[in-house]
Amino acid sequence: MERIFSEETVRRVGERVLVKGWVHSRRDHGKIIFIDLRDKTGLLQVVFTPDQPGAYELAQTLRSEFVVGIEGRVNQRPDKLINEKIPTGTVELSAETLEIINPAETTPFEVDKDTSKVNEETRLKYRYLDLRTERMQRNLRLRDRVVTFFRQYMHDHGFVEIETPILMKGTPEGAREFVVPSRLHPGKFYVLPQSPQQFKQLCMVAGFERYFQIARCFRDEDQRGDRQPEFTQLDFEMSFVTQEDVLAYTEAMFIELVEKLFPEKKLAKKPFPRLTYTEAMERHGSDKPDLRQNREDPNELAFVWVVDFPMFEKDEAGHIAATHHPFCSIKDEDREKFMKGKDLLSVRANAYDLVLNGFELSSGSIRIHERELQKRIFDLLEIDEAEQQARFGHMLEAFTYGAPPHGGFAPGIDRIVMLLAGEPNIREVIAFPKTGDARDPMMRAPAPVSDQQLRDVHISLRHKQTKEK
Ligand code: AMO
Repeated sequence: MERIFSEETVRRVGERVLVKGWVHSRRDHGKIIFIDLRDKTGLLQVVFTPDQPGAYELAQTLRSEFVVGIEGRVNQRPDKLINEKIPTGTVELSAETLEIINPAETTPFEVDKDTSKVNEETRLKYRYLDLRTERMQRNLRLRDRVVTFFRQYMHDHGFVEIETPILMKGTPEGAREFVVPSRLHPGKFYVLPQSPQQFKQLCMVAGFERYFQIARCFRDEDQRGDRQPEFTQLDFEMSFVTQEDVLAYTEAMFIELVEKLFPEKKLAKKPFPRLTYTEAMERHGSDKPDLRQNREDPNELAFVWVVDFPMFEKDEAGHIAATHHPFCSIKDEDREKFMKGKDLLSVRANAYDLVLNGFELSSGSIRIHERELQKRIFDLLEIDEAEQQARFGHMLEAFTYGAPPHGGFAPGIDRIVMLLAGEPNIREVIAFPKTGDARDPMMRAPAPVSDQQLRDVHISLRHKQTKEK
């Protein structure tokens, strides 16, 4: 017999069916054994009675998380036994045969309950069990719907999805980079992208005009609740656009996302309010202000644009650095100051952020597309000629071959899904995240590699490796 999913049983009353899944829970009521069977579509109540002695006896050995196959008849439940909490609550399966497909050990925590209070190390060590819980299943399926929406929206608006390299030379986004040693080129290294920034700009030089990517990014930085060493951006770039075009496109996309997929949520203001960076700092003391009217309301979404970010800032060592990244263009009004190199900290970029409920969702800018202006930025950032050539020669060169004006944006998918799911931490919406100190307790990464692997990539360790945790 062909297996059906539990949700289909409501349409199969009176029929014999085969269901498969996990034992979610078992309750013995005198002569009757009930189990809740769980599959990807939800729960189904199954009843074992002594008039099917084979199945009944085997059912006495069932424990939580056993994988089973059950054939039986779908019966309508009497009105007073209807369970409104589950979609199959109007029916139950009267079991005739039971197959134990695979037994299960007692799990380290109960997967029929919310695991938010369970020790995180344990949850991540047994992530495949944690992911069985209703909340985690819901979060990851919600994430899938959000990503699917974005992909469709982008395609509907003439964007092409292009994959860009993971092994690359590095792109400045303000964090440390993960490095990958090269076997074929002794002493040389790839680095993992902090974002596809340079490649997406080069896709504009290449004439695609509208690019997007659900892009994995890697940053070796200290962790926080809204940061992971690897995370995902909806990265996009457009040619021949103004800042206004990028803001309008993005705003319409987010409004449609919320109104179509999350009708229970309320947008605090539409159109989204706008603040300059200076106004945000003066009025709210933050460049990611939380403008919700009622912070207790889990359904309120207060989007706000923050525009006119300063182009430069002083880094911890007192050196001048790019506030966003060195590829942003300068506001026309500040161009003179910029060219004279005067009062640089007051020079503003065509750079903008989208903020939601106090979290920075996304950053972007209109870029430089002219070689001389790009060189001017590098000069002001005190990057000497040789280093400019070594790190960014390809960008400077590309701009000499007919680079169109362009700009873009990169909403962080993990943060959006976290806020839409009402979770306090992006780890709750990532299938296999890292701990706060960037470990994967399940695979036990990072881990030592063999001496042979080290030799292959021409690396000798200076310190003895620390013992594996
Ligand atoms: P930026 O560095 O501001 O811009 O990143 C854009 C968005 O990516 C998300 N994000 C993160 N999410 C989780 N963990 C992290 N460690 C992390 N770091 C960033 C945030 C953030 O707003 N190339 C530019 C974009 C552009 O100019 O188009 C960039 O990466 O949601």
